[in-house]
Amino acid sequence: MKKSFLLSLLLIFSLIISACSSNSSTEEKPEGNSEGGGDAQAPLDIFSWWTGAGEEDGLKALLAIFEEKYPDIPVENAAVAGGAGTNAKAVLASRMQGDDPPATFQVHGGAELNEGWVAAGKMEPLNDFYEAEGLNDKFPQDLIDMVSKDGNIYSVPVNIHRGNVLWYNKKVFEENGLQAPTTFDEFFEVADALKEKGITPLALGDKEPWTATHLYETVLLGVLGNEDYGKLWTGELSFDDPKVVKAAEIFQKMLTYINDDHSSRNWQDASQLVANGEAAMNVMGDWAKGYFVNDLNLKVNEDFGYIPTPGTEGQFMVITDTFGLPKGVENSEGVKKFLSVLASVEGQDAFNPLKGSIPARVDADIEKYDQYGKDTMEDFKTGKLAPSLAHGSAASEGFLTKVNQSINIFVTQQNTDQFTQDMTAAAVELK
Ligand code: GAL
Repeated sequence: MKKSFLLSLLLIFSLIISACSSNSSTEEKPEGNSEGGGDAQAPLDIFSWWTGAGEEDGLKALLAIFEEKYPDIPVENAAVAGGAGTNAKAVLASRMQGDDPPATFQVHGGAELNEGWVAAGKMEPLNDFYEAEGLNDKFPQDLIDMVSKDGNIYSVPVNIHRGNVLWYNKKVFEENGLQAPTTFDEFFEVADALKEKGITPLALGDKEPWTATHLYETVLLGVLGNEDYGKLWTGELSFDDPKVVKAAEIFQKMLTYINDDHSSRNWQDASQLVANGEAAMNVMGDWAKGYFVNDLNLKVNEDFGYIPTPGTEGQFMVITDTFGLPKGVENSEGVKKFLSVLASVEGQDAFNPLKGSIPARVDADIEKYDQYGKDTMEDFKTGKLAPSLAHGSAASEGFLTKVNQSINIFVTQQNTDQFTQDMTAAAVELK
């Protein structure tokens, strides 16, 4: 494993630990001027990791709406590059620890928000904001629950991403007379057929290790099913349980079908292998659809197809990007104006078609979305929801950091016993 990666993991981990344990210093700060104080013209720095291909177009569309509505409030796009917050989370932790929060920041609903920044006392509750903006019935209750702790709501969801999607190159499948696999057995049959033809069956780009964690969690969901998958995060199901070991074995077998240069590619580079037919399949969240369509000009259901990852039909690995109001910001009223744009039908329908996600709002305009979006909205309504580990919803950042580390080692060494031991040891973080 690369030394620089280990060092950055350590940095993220220690920054998060210290940020989370510095409640006392927050208490000395003013309570975020949330009752109308502060400088109403102070610039808003909007913090995320949405830079570059497939990521930033939606954000820019949102910022443009805000600028048009509120020309007197300067906004700054303070995005830090790196998929899934690889670098942004460390920068954020250091700013939060130094009591220099961004005006608002991207944070996943679930543990990342609630066990992280809310538990550390760093966020303002937004119950009054939800009430004033009439938002309480505008989001699915499951989503509101993901951004709530102890009866208070702490952020506003801008989208719903699906994590358990298998993307495939339509032409490659058609030319080889193959069907998209729905089970692991089918996956391996298809993968063998492709391998024989000299086509890489599965694209992976784990230069940033979260992509391998992303693949692994879809295997966990496919093998365990929704209920047992959920038990992993409460400690009711141990990582050395035979069912979980079986998932690790399947994951290991899948790794024997990936591209050789996986460790030098990021998620976009891996998606590109599928786009140009060098690889047949890729497991990635549906930000990949934003990339395929808006950056690579591919057509949904012509150039690429999509199907739930093996064994996960009827299940929906849910990832929601949300923004809240940190304590101690200069222009809290301005932040609320930004959150109001982000929460609006107009804002969500500008952002999500570009981002690849579906709107978090229940009353968005379905006609603004392509067939993938329409299918995904339906699947969200009918599917069993499962929180993503790789994207911060299922478990604390401390655990996730260790998981990314173990998985990165596993991809190289492919030692299932070692991996099982590492994951079981990491699970003490789950408490
Ligand atoms: C996720 C995030 C998505 C997308 C993806 C790749 O964590 O929720 O919006 O940005 O990372 O960077």
